[in-house]
Amino acid sequence: MLIDQHGRQLRYLRLAVTDRCNLRCRYCMPEEGIAFAPREALLNYGEILYLCDVLAELGINKVRLTGGEPLVRRDLPLLVRGLAELFPRLAMTTNGVLLPRHLDELTAAGLTHYNLSLDTLRPDRFFAITRRDEFAATRYALDELLRRQYPVKINVVVMRGKNDDELADFVELTRASAVEVRFIEAMPFNDDDGNHDVFIAYADMLERLRSTYPNLEQTPHQEGSAVTFRVPGYRGRVGIIPAYSRSLCGSCDRLRLTPRGTMLNCLYSTQGLELLPLLRQGIGRDELTDLIRTYVHGKYATGHETERHEQRGSIFASMTSIGG
Ligand code: GTP
Ligand code: 5AD
Ligand code: SF4
Repeated sequence: MLIDQHGRQLRYLRLAVTDRCNLRCRYCMPEEGIAFAPREALLNYGEILYLCDVLAELGINKVRLTGGEPLVRRDLPLLVRGLAELFPRLAMTTNGVLLPRHLDELTAAGLTHYNLSLDTLRPDRFFAITRRDEFAATRYALDELLRRQYPVKINVVVMRGKNDDELADFVELTRASAVEVRFIEAMPFNDDDGNHDVFIAYADMLERLRSTYPNLEQTPHQEGSAVTFRVPGYRGRVGIIPAYSRSLCGSCDRLRLTPRGTMLNCLYSTQGLELLPLLRQGIGRDELTDLIRTYVHGKYATGHETERHEQRGSIFASMTSIGG
């Protein structure tokens, strides 16, 4: 088992398969000048599956594919097929642009849960936020997921002055569909990404939601990163993710693997366990298991603690290099 120094068992792996993306969301990536990893610097599928086999034996039972945008990695269904043999729950977070053409193949390969990133329901705003003209594709992906009645969560990064007048429009999607809409705090990763300027905190979002929906009620069963609510009579749920306030850290059971093969205990970690060179040197399974156990044991209690202990340098970091 993977147990940290606070006695928590880690069961959830966020596996970033690429640092590339077909959008350029302003809160996540600059338009240009990003040093994407060359192919040989990425873990290949054989290496990922070997590592995941070890992690499955160590008690990881849920894997989420992230990126960048996971669907820009070639032959992803091949990897999904291998992972599905190891893990009962296999999820993906995607911007949806490439999803419809791969949806049936991915589901057949074993993907069970889809989270779709969609920050606005207005086509003109989609371009302003993502710098790409792909609203129709993402919206179509949502319709296809709903039509098939797959478990779907919609991720909405809430930004002051950009989309914060659309909360009710998103909540209305939960009226007739069993979808979960999650409002996310925009996380600043450095001083220049503009996220400080647009940041809206969890409590502020909740107050706004309650002013429109005074009878909003917290759902009895809470799991995962969002605090969830529902409007009585609506089929779906509404969540808020305190990604930056980090009140979700106490029960954290996450481990991350970056596309370059670095294992990280926390989204805010800067000092990880670099597994790629070890794998390429042919590290044995027992030694690998021990190294991972020891690394995980050092996981800090919260993202704030991690930030205090592991100073972030001036290097550009964002969700795309860390892996959503
Ligand atoms: P579920 O498994 O469905 O609960 O999904 P998830 O919330 O773990 O994954 P998803 O990729 O959909 O992430 C949604 C948002 O949660 C991201 O935009 C991040 O803002 C935030 N998030 C994900 N993982 C972490 C984490 O480990 N720490 C913090 N602070 N935020 C996270
Ligand atoms: N703050 C909050 N959420 C972010 N995401 C990417 N960058 C940030 C950020 N700076 C979200 C994406 C996606 C998820 C994986 O992370 O919108 O839904
Ligand atoms: Fe876990 Fe770190 Fe995220 Fe908190 S910030 S939920 S400790 S990974």
